Amino acid sequence: MTGLDFSPASLSLAQDLAGRVGADVDFVESDVYDAVETLGRTDFDLVFTGIGALCWLPNIRRWAEVVARLLRPGGRLFLREGHPILWALSEPREDGLLVVEYPYFEREEPLVWDQNSTYVQTDARLSATVTHEWNHGLGEIVTALQCAGLTLTALVEHDSVPYEAFPGSMERLDNGEWQLIKARWRLPLSYTLQAGKPA
Ligand SMILES: C[S@@+](CC[C@H](N)C(=O)[O-])C[C@H]1O[C@@H](n2cnc3c(N)ncnc32)[C@H](O)[C@@H]1O
Repeated sequence: MTGLDFSPASLSLAQDLAGRVGADVDFVESDVYDAVETLGRTDFDLVFTGIGALCWLPNIRRWAEVVARLLRPGGRLFLREGHPILWALSEPREDGLLVVEYPYFEREEPLVWDQNSTYVQTDARLSATVTHEWNHGLGEIVTALQCAGLTLTALVEHDSVPYEAFPGSMERLDNGEWQLIKARWRLPLSYTLQAGKPA
């Protein structure tokens, strides 16, 4: 198994976690857009991308092309991500209304945030406070994968997400996921997607 990230701090934490559960993983430092060149391989059986990864990438088509190149013929992508409509919503309002404030579609200009706190449950304050994010619509993600030569085999939208996206408006389920307390059927919060590279 290979884990890839461009942050030495993230890699070090991942290495520690893998060690504690006895997982045999090679961790590699690289920008994901350079993954094929850095790893020097195009024969992976599976590419997995987890929650909170795509929002840091400015161009979804470039990402999809990297995934397609990494996979061997017959290999597959499994993706679980925060839903782009969730990331387009404003902060929760007291009246419980959900308001679309931020871009749903990919735009060239990033969303720029300047905050000294994070979604992780911690009292620690950040010293590097500015982040840049990009949203990508669900259709843009599916189309990017298809244009890169992958075949969509599953796409499911879920009404839960594994972090408290709207503090105070969500409840934690027994499985560790978070759901809206009020009318949770109003919108998807995450999705899972599978796509295969034709053999
Ligand atoms: C929110 S974390 C993802 C957590 C992980 N998906 C999980 O479920 O535990 C985002 C990670 O993406 C990494 N990242 C952001 N942009 C990247 C890029 N262009 N290339 C490689 N890694 C990147 C960050 O360093 C960070 O470790």
